[in-house]
Amino acid sequence: MAFRPRYTGLIERYRDRLPVNDDTRIISLGEGNTPLIKLNHIPELTGKNVDIYVKYEGLNPTGSFKDRGMTMAVTQAVNEGAKAIICASTGNTSASAAAYAARAGITAFVLIPDGKIAQGKLAQAMMEGAVVIQIKGNFDDGMRLVKEVAKEAPVTIVNSINPYRLQGQKTAAFEIIEELGRAPDYHCLPVGNAGNITAHWIGYCEYACSDDKTTEACAFCEGNCRFAGGALVGTRPTMVGYQASGSAPFMRGEMVDNPETVATAIRIGHPQSWDYAWKVKAESDGWFDECSDEEILHAQKLLAEKEGVFCEPASATSLAGAMRDIQSGKIRDNSSVVCTLTGHGLKDPDTAIQQSTGPVIKIESTLEQVKKAILDNVD
Ligand code: F0G
Repeated sequence: MAFRPRYTGLIERYRDRLPVNDDTRIISLGEGNTPLIKLNHIPELTGKNVDIYVKYEGLNPTGSFKDRGMTMAVTQAVNEGAKAIICASTGNTSASAAAYAARAGITAFVLIPDGKIAQGKLAQAMMEGAVVIQIKGNFDDGMRLVKEVAKEAPVTIVNSINPYRLQGQKTAAFEIIEELGRAPDYHCLPVGNAGNITAHWIGYCEYACSDDKTTEACAFCEGNCRFAGGALVGTRPTMVGYQASGSAPFMRGEMVDNPETVATAIRIGHPQSWDYAWKVKAESDGWFDECSDEEILHAQKLLAEKEGVFCEPASATSLAGAMRDIQSGKIRDNSSVVCTLTGHGLKDPDTAIQQSTGPVIKIESTLEQVKKAILDNVD
């Protein structure tokens, strides 16, 4: 039977804008091409007139945006002859690295903080055959060890300090521009290591530079973008990065040694893309801010309840911060706002169930009792 896949992943889709050539063996699971969903009910809760879109990155193959970077990083590693990859992770990177390593037929070593990663992510890494190394320490400790061990053992680092990761992740910006016909006015993201906010800025800059040669060369592409644009409007958004209050080095202006937050994915005190992120802020005229755990969980719940979109806690940080800045007027009225939802809600079922107040009604299995349950709960 002829196999004609409808979509074969972001490297094929954006081949001319990524560091691959005709001979490259591509390692893909069909990542990218995620939906940009226009919110129906939440914007009016802000009392302002704004269009809010969420880029639902939880619909990538392993349930997070990491797959965009991992297809590129693992493709590059395999083509360089690597037999093993390694990462430190708060969970999603490990799930993604494990999957793409399995796909490529190589080994993944993942260092995760003992007891501090969400169940779904641990299940993924274990099922996908990674060598799971739990450390008595946090992500930042893991990252330091990974950098050290990679100097002494034959492993390729696939954290976002690997530049191929950012190349893959920049494609999310391409997709957004293509769908909106222009860049949004504001792009809000949760920030941990700040790799993703940097990658998005690279993507937006490449579009803007190639489309409008008068745009000042940015620090990333230095005016050398290979992507020949065309009909698209050469704008770039204001980039806004939100952190969890207990893990907010960009707000403190310095590294944080003992980060804490319910949003374990962004429980990071020593961001790897520190300098890049400040450049993104400066170039885009953007800002950083922080959200409390309560605000994060509230936004997560709101998205699920009001829009049917289930994301993990860290992801909801983008919406939590955006709603506050829309209400205060910092994000201007009549603007378009994209919030990246970085990971799927099923990644962290424990936190979801703990904070759910929705009725779970226990009854005998009789028609009477089912009917009563319905009648008691219809509006
Ligand atoms: N959201 C989720 C769901 C994440 O998993 C991460 C990072 C981020 C946001 C922050 O992205 O680091 O590029 O600023 N997770 C990494 C991991 C650290 O190991 O899975 P960033």
